[in-house]
Amino acid sequence: MIKIAVLVSGRGSNLQAIIDSIENGYLKAQICVVVSDIGDAYALERARKHGINAVNIDPNVFGSKDSYEEEVLKVLKNHDVQLVLLAGYMKILGKTLLAAYKNRILNIHPALLPAFPGLHAQEQAFRYGVKVAGCTVHFVDEELDGGPIIVQKCVEVKDEDTAQTLAEKILEQEHKIYPEAVKLFVENRLRLEGRKVKIIR
Ligand code: GRF
Repeated sequence: MIKIAVLVSGRGSNLQAIIDSIENGYLKAQICVVVSDIGDAYALERARKHGINAVNIDPNVFGSKDSYEEEVLKVLKNHDVQLVLLAGYMKILGKTLLAAYKNRILNIHPALLPAFPGLHAQEQAFRYGVKVAGCTVHFVDEELDGGPIIVQKCVEVKDEDTAQTLAEKILEQEHKIYPEAVKLFVENRLRLEGRKVKIIR
């Protein structure tokens, strides 16, 4: 069974969606460890409630991004991790993790990339006045929110929506498409061809 690590920084609702998908049998995989750069991230508690190793690695005690990532890498290697999921992980990945897990790191972003990369994507989209918003699961590479796209889902923006209700609608779809994308990876049904990801049906 494929071994997964989830990197988090916050509330962990996407982590929860992955945990639930494993527990209900949709995903045949195992989360070996959850790593957070933030000590009091609720995501760590969610992991522990499900008997999953939950580790805080504080970047501030390391002299550089490289040495911090070396430490994260050590934990991942100790758990034989094969796939890394970013789920609300607020740090930009450096070359240490990117090189060690090339094409084996996925991220979920709350916008239809390449529109609205970066922080507060839902609010950016709302303010811009888009009629269709959504979320994206993609491979992670050097470019922020720029790696090859695996799955996207759109949601309609209604006149009565606020930034808050739009973010909620997007989040609901995130919890569906992240497990879907992970399932495709786990079943070895993704083929990377340059920027394109082909899905073997
Ligand atoms: C989600 O909106 C995700 O798309 C973004 O960060 C947020 C994390 O939320 N990358 P949660 O911690 O999974 O609840």
